[in-house]
This record gives sequence, C-alpha cells and structure tokens, in this order.
Amino acid sequence: MSLLRLTGLEQYIPRLEPSLTTYIVITATCFLPAIVWGLHVLLGIRSRQIEPAGCRKLGLRIRSHLADQHSEKYSGIASNQRNNVATWKVKSLWIYPVKSCRGVELNRGTVIGTGMEYDRQFCFAQLSSKFPTSLDMPQEEKASHTWKFVTQRSIAAMAMVKTEIWVPDPSSPTYTKQHPNVQSQGVLVLRYPKLNNASTLWGKLMNLLTSIFGMAEHSVHIPFNPTSDQIKDNGIITEQMQIWKDSPKSLKIASTEFSDLWIQDLRFYLGITNHLALFRVSKEDTREVYRCAPRKEKLGYQPTVGFQDAYPLHILNLASVQNIGKKLDKGAPPLGALNFRPNIVITGGEPYAEDSWKRINIGEYEYFVACRTVRCLLPNVNPATGVRHGSEPNKTLKTHRRIDEGDPKNACLGMQMVPASEHGEIKVGDTIEVLETGEHFYIKQ
Ligand SMILES: *[C@@H]1O[C@H](CO)[C@@H](O)[C@H](O)[C@H]1NC(C)=O
Ligand SMILES: *[C@@H]1O[C@H](CO)[C@@H](O)[C@H](O)[C@H]1NC(C)=O
Repeated sequence: MSLLRLTGLEQYIPRLEPSLTTYIVITATCFLPAIVWGLHVLLGIRSRQIEPAGCRKLGLRIRSHLADQHSEKYSGIASNQRNNVATWKVKSLWIYPVKSCRGVELNRGTVIGTGMEYDRQFCFAQLSSKFPTSLDMPQEEKASHTWKFVTQRSIAAMAMVKTEIWVPDPSSPTYTKQHPNVQSQGVLVLRYPKLNNASTLWGKLMNLLTSIFGMAEHSVHIPFNPTSDQIKDNGIITEQMQIWKDSPKSLKIASTEFSDLWIQDLRFYLGITNHLALFRVSKEDTREVYRCAPRKEKLGYQPTVGFQDAYPLHILNLASVQNIGKKLDKGAPPLGALNFRPNIVITGGEPYAEDSWKRINIGEYEYFVACRTVRCLLPNVNPATGVRHGSEPNKTLKTHRRIDEGDPKNACLGMQMVPASEHGEIKVGDTIEVLETGEHFYIKQ
C-alpha cells in the first residue's frame, strides 16, 4: 500500500493511466540531454579536430588585420600624410594555398620567385568532355577529355572551402625527421561544410539538425609537397590541367574517378556534376611569365607562377577598395579587400595612387609592378558567404575603372607584381617606398 493511500491524500492526485506513450515521453525527456549530445557528436560538431603531427599551423591566431578595414582612417585622405608625402605600409598579408578557396592570413611571409611561399600550389579542376558526341566521331575523340581549372567565377561556393597550412615544427612533441608530414614539408588541411543528400529522408533530417546546431565540417589532410615515395605509394599520377592558356603537367592528388570519399562529398557540396580532382603544382612543369613582366635578362631569373592567374603577386590599396565601396549601388553588400583576393594589402596614401607605380620597395626587398589587375566577375562573390551578387561591384568598377588602354573594355583594381629577387621576406607593418612611376599598358593573354 502506498503512502498516498495510507495518508488519504490519494484522492487529491489526478489519476494517471500510464500508457506506453507516457513511458516513451518520460523516458525521452530524461534522456533528451544525452540525445542532443549524441547528435552533436554524430554531426561532428564536437568532434575534436585532429591536428597534423609534427607540425604547427601557419598564420594569425588573433583577429584579422582587416578587422577595421572599413575605418575612415584608411580612406587615403590626410591623417598620416605629412607634407603631402604618403607613408605606405603593409596592412595585411594573404596566401591562398588552393586557388579560389579561402585564404590564410599571415603576419610575415617568405617571397620566392613564384610569389608568396605556399600561395596557389593547389587547384581544383573538372573533367570536361566534348559531349554530346555524334555517332560518326572517331573513338579517340569521343574519349578525349580535358581537366579544366574551376574557380569562384563559376562555382561561388568555393569561397566556403577553408584552407590551412601546417609546417614541420621541430619543437612539436610529435616531430621526427621521418614523419610523413615532415617528409612532405607540411600538410594542407581543407575544411568544408558537410551537406547531406536531401533526396533521402536521413539527409533531410541531418540537414535540419545541422541548420539548428550549426554547420558541421568535413576535413581532409593532404601532404603539402609529397615525396617521390609518397607519390608512388598513394598512386598519384601526373596529368595536364588547363589553366587559362597553359596546360601544365600537374600532380593529380585526389579525384572522384577513384574512391576518394572526401572529394565526392566536396563535389556534392559544390554542386558539380563532372568529375572533380585536386591538382598540385609539379616540379616537372612550370608556367613561365612573360607579357608585362620584366625579362630574365633584367631579373637574373625567369619568373614563374603556380596556379595564379598570371603573375606572382597581387598588391591592393585599401583606399581604392574603400573608394569603390562607397560608390556601389544601395543594397550591395559592403566591399572588402578580400573580394579581390590580394596577397598584400597596403594603406597610407590616396586611392588609385598605385595605378602608375612601376617599381617599389617593400621593407628591404624590391618588386617590379608589372601591370594593373584586370578584374573579372569574381569580386561579385561575397568571400564570407560564397554568395554572388547580381551586379556589384562589377557595375561600379566598369563605370569608374576602365582606365587601361591595353584592355579598355574591362575594369582594373590592384597591381600585379614580380619580385626582383627570388628570396625575400615581407611582414605586416613594412614600409613601402615608391622607386619609379610611369605608364602601364595591359597585354592580354
Ligand atoms: C541522392 O540520393 C538519391 C536517392 O537515393 C540518389 O538517386 C542520388 O544519386 C543521390 N545524390 C548524390 C549526389 O549522391
Ligand atoms: C558588368 O557590368 C557591365 C556594365 O554595367 C555590364 O554591361 C555587364 O553585363 C556586367 N556583367 C555581368 C555579368 O553582370
């Protein structure tokens, strides 16, 4: 007999007929925290990020030097210009280990003949075939295919693929000279949002949960510069990959043709239907730079690039970006330096002063300013969200910045540079000295 019945209190308690549903509800309520935590783990939100052994992560740990990029003090008017002489300084430094993916901000970096070390060493490409084919087409031609580079110009969501560079660090407790990560001169880490196939019920449910708890991420570790043994052991082959008018032989690191699951997931996230592969610059083949670049006779070395569009380095004046930003149509998202994917962001002088620079010093090192940067539609992609704006900044750039007689139909912003020496250092705060100014005339591909 229960205490309630004994004390006669029972009559005041509403009678509950415990049904199966009640039990389920009570049990579920008790276990709710455990279920939520379980889903968290399942979705990978809580999963500990595995750090590449023997290495340390390159780049800023604190907030970006571009955090205050919209401040009026960088508009290029007065403030730090004494006697009308501008004091130009390096404000922010960026590398983009994978072309068109998110960059890594540095405090200091090494400049080599191809630009900033670690910049644009990898690139995604899709397999494009000459389909539809006609019946009478020769068999070889039907099978012919080309790997063509993909960028945010066509796939804006690439802006959401994050990159990290981990470099060997002898002070790491897991460092040994023989470690594969050390042998490969470090590790490239890619992170991208996990998207589930919404045509299945499970996928729908998982997508709903990730939208509540935040996006989970996939991550993958790739040897930065695989040794010949690593190339052999991982079955990495060399294939031509077309980037603009070049088709350098490149290392095919991963491909949806094979069972690399991560790249299948990434292809699904990016919404690409062709085969997708990740390529790396190969030592076997280099892309030499001519057009507006100084020649080998002048430099003492032949400038080459990795998977940059055309030249080793891209420098951008924040005052110019601000000036364009103020002219955009109402409702356009704020324009930032990262829309233009610079390596070097500078501040100090007036907007567009850089248009006529020919040769500069940054810190102790000299650079040739080869030409202006002709802009495509890529800056319309918001670098933080991977969403492309319908018209801006293309419209404003086309209105105000068609300034180069070499390509009068297109707008310019920023400058392309070639380092005068294959060995240089650059850091945030370095002073820039303009050594020579003059005319520029863009030479098209
Ligand atoms: C998504 O699921 C549907 C149904 O199971 C399937 O037909 C489709 O191929 C899947 N898509 C991808 C990209 O896996
Ligand atoms: C870019 O802007 C120009 C000038 O407003 C316009 O003619 C052109 O169609 C725009 N391009 C795209 C793809 O929106």
